[in-house]
Amino acid sequence: PLKLAIIGGGSSYTPELVEGVLKRLDRLPVKEIHFVDIELGQKKLDIIEALARRMVEKVGADITIKASLDRRAAIEDADFVMTQFRVGGLQARANDERIPLKYDVIGQETTGPGGFAKALRTIPVILDICKDIEELAPNAWLLNFTNPAGLVTEAVQKYTKVKAIGLCNVPVSMKMMIAEMMNCSPDDLSLECAGLNHLVWAHRVWLDGKDITAEVLEKVGDGANFSMKNIFEEPWDPAFLKALGAIPCPYHRYFYQTAAMLAEEKEAAQSGGTRAEQVMETERELFELYQDTNLDRKPEQLEKRGGAYYSDASLNLVDAIYNNLNTVNVVNVRNNGTIASLPDDVVIECSAVIGSWGARPLAVGHLSPEVSGLIHQVKAYEQLTVEAAVHGDYDKGLMALANNPLVPDIKRAKAILDDILRINHDYLPQF
Ligand code: NAD
Ligand code: G6P
Ligand code: MN
Repeated sequence: PLKLAIIGGGSSYTPELVEGVLKRLDRLPVKEIHFVDIELGQKKLDIIEALARRMVEKVGADITIKASLDRRAAIEDADFVMTQFRVGGLQARANDERIPLKYDVIGQETTGPGGFAKALRTIPVILDICKDIEELAPNAWLLNFTNPAGLVTEAVQKYTKVKAIGLCNVPVSMKMMIAEMMNCSPDDLSLECAGLNHLVWAHRVWLDGKDITAEVLEKVGDGANFSMKNIFEEPWDPAFLKALGAIPCPYHRYFYQTAAMLAEEKEAAQSGGTRAEQVMETERELFELYQDTNLDRKPEQLEKRGGAYYSDASLNLVDAIYNNLNTVNVVNVRNNGTIASLPDDVVIECSAVIGSWGARPLAVGHLSPEVSGLIHQVKAYEQLTVEAAVHGDYDKGLMALANNPLVPDIKRAKAILDDILRINHDYLPQF
């Protein structure tokens, strides 16, 4: 029997996760799900707990649902610990999005200085969670969903003994969108993904054994739907895509089309609000629905969030590990030579064979110059961010931002860093 511990159980995404478990009961003998949150999230947690119970009862599953603020009790003897918490809540995210905008820099939850600030708040908490796992469930798998997912997983990989895999819905969504444009089933597609979280490319796409990369690039350049709910669908230049020769992920727009994305963000910040501010409204609607005692499944409205297919990504992984499936999934794991020019101990996002041992990445070797400059620069930013977050090191923090391709000069890097440290003071015990 399996026990799952969900940290950040009050998330509005949780019903999708429960649905993912219930869909797989024939293969996953889940007997207990323990949702954990903090005092601030108690109300949301109560609503989620009641909804999860209704969902479980509806299908007559024999699963004990627990919800509490007791993280240690949840982690004890868990087989899988899934982290989906947000330190500082959506208000902190809104700050992350607005601070850089003041300096004409991209203001985004995971990419650029926003992701840096979120990493500083999140890493001390995840390291603390890992201490509990080391003590109370040393064999458990940590599936980390908390953003910036690659960077946070790298901190875990470098500073704890926990078996960890980072996860994102972007590669799954890319596959779904390609299936849609090719009018085929996602199961017939095979994507060779490699890069970093929110900076991943599909280097080759195969359909029934045929290389269709060029065709997909043409369709994306032609305006086929290729974005996430949380990212402006800035059209791609077909000539650029052809020259790049690999399929960029939706987040690559921030790097390749910075000026246009910045203009979109500024416009939104002045009218409808930044993404966090919009999501606050969606969240209110969702929790209103979740309280309806007639509701016993995941409502459609959840699809307004950027995290669609998230439960599929995480539960496919649980399935592959528990049942030793040897299937290929895209995960965030230790590089170990997969991308030849990156250090072994950094975390990359790539296609990997998943079995009971965990994830074995498929070798990539040397990257072409078309993509290697950007990935190295962003990885340097990530390595420095991990050091800044773990040790509360100002110099590393400054160099992290100075190395981020979205921060144009050190004057702004310093101003943004000082704003971030000041505004997040209560969440940064390490500084
Ligand atoms: P949210 O604001 O609803 O937060 C989820 C819960 O975390 C809240 O109920 C909150 O009270 C709780 N929380 C805050 N600090 C905590 C702590 N120290 N311990 C335990 N719980 C804590 O957030 P959300 O929009 O549901 O997103 C949750 C997380 O998942 C975020 O970090 C987000 O970036 C991430 N996410 C990742 C992906 C991905 O592709 N990897 C997709 C969607 C969301
Ligand atoms: C995407 C990303 C996630 C991100 C989310 C934001 O799918 O992969 O990492 O957190 O969307 O969605 P939101 O609805 O919160 O803006
Ligand atoms: Mn993601």
